[in-house]
This record gives sequence, C-alpha cells and structure tokens, in this order.
Amino acid sequence: MPLTVLTHSIAAHLLTKLRNVQTSPDQFRPLTRSLTSILVSEATRELPTRSLIIRTPLEETQGVELKTEPVLVPILRAGLGMLDAALDLLPTSHVGYVGLERDEKTALARAYYSKLPQLGDRSVLVLDPMLATGGSAATCVAQLYAQGAAHVKLICIVAAPEGVRLLETQFPDLHIVTASLDRELNDKKYILPGLGDFGDRLFGTF
Ligand code: PRP
Ligand code: URA
Repeated sequence: MPLTVLTHSIAAHLLTKLRNVQTSPDQFRPLTRSLTSILVSEATRELPTRSLIIRTPLEETQGVELKTEPVLVPILRAGLGMLDAALDLLPTSHVGYVGLERDEKTALARAYYSKLPQLGDRSVLVLDPMLATGGSAATCVAQLYAQGAAHVKLICIVAAPEGVRLLETQFPDLHIVTASLDRELNDKKYILPGLGDFGDRLFGTF
C-alpha cells in the first residue's frame, strides 16, 4: 500500500503549531486549513487532466483542465476541519459524509451517519485528520469500496503505525497521504506524540 509522508518545511511548521498544547481552537482551525491545502495538493498531484486551448490577454495558448474532480468524504466530525481547504482547491467536487465516533472505553468506531453521492468512476479523497487504530478509516473505506469506488485515498494529518498496518492488511490498494507518521498509540489508543483529540481541539469540546 502506498504511503506518502509529506516532506515540506511549511507543513512541518504548521504541524508543530497544531501539536502545541497551547494552540487554541481559533488558531487550530486556520492551521488545519492551511496544512490540509498542502496535503490535498500532494494527494491530487497526478489527477488526470485534458488539454485545452485558451486565450490569455495576449495570445492563444495550450493549458489543461481536470477531467473529473474527486469526491470528497470527510469523516465526521474532525474531518470537517479539512473540508473547506479541499473545496477551495476542488470547488466542483461532490461531498459525502460519513459519521463515526470512537467509543471512549473500547476505541471502537461506531457508525452513526452516512450520505454519499454517486461515485461513478470518480476517485475519492477521504478526509480524516487522525489515523490511530485505523478502525474509523477502515469502516469508511470499506463502505466506499462496497459502493463501487475504484480509487480511494486517505488524507490525514497524523498517522500511527498501528493504523497504517491495519489499512495495509485490509486494503492493499489504498493510498495514504499524511503529514506525519508518529511513533505509537498509548494504552487509551491516542497517538504519541500526536496532538490530542483533534475534534475537541478543533471545536473546543474539552
Ligand atoms: C477521531 C478521528 C478519527 C478517529 C481515529 O474521531 O477524527 O476519526 O478518532 O481513531 P481510530 O483510527 O482509532 O478509529 P473521534 O472518534 O474522536 O470522533 P470526532 O471526530 O467526532 O471527535
Ligand atoms: N483520535 C484523535 O483525535 N486523536 C488521537 O490521538 C487518536 C484518535
């Protein structure tokens, strides 16, 4: 399974600010948006394009346009923090929502909502900032493949080796793009060093 870990000075700078416990939700949200722009740019580097001729103010020239924009699927609720950045780059993308919440004791993801557009032959970008045990991402990706998705990429801000291994075993074709591959999970299944509970830090629900 392909795994891309960003090597980018601005991404590393933004991630460090996100990790910092002193970063408040009003700072956390724009940092998430900026870092997601870099991640989405990386994940869409090779989207298929077609040539077209346009006129600049001076002359005709050849350019390109995207053939089809990928479907965006934020995993509720923390994935919502990544959606606007993805839509800034892909404004005509259709958006599906998958609601999953980890049980605080077992860390098992419980599904509570799903609304997906027609996938057709479009590729899908799943947006979820944290890949910890991999249970949430695996539930979402399985649903997408069951609906006929051909190409799925998972974009996350921090990934744990445990989650990467689970997805690797279950979905050998899935591509993961992340800003960091962290060390491990703690006994409560939080990522170390991580950045804490992303949804809580994004929305202020401490
Ligand atoms: C977080 C995060 C992922 C999930 C990752 O969501 O946004 O969806 O945990 O953990 P996993 O890889 O072990 O499944 P959470 O369940 O806390 O819900 P929230 O986004 O509503 O806060
Ligand atoms: N979900 C989070 O928000 N953070 C973690 O470290 C693990 C799961």
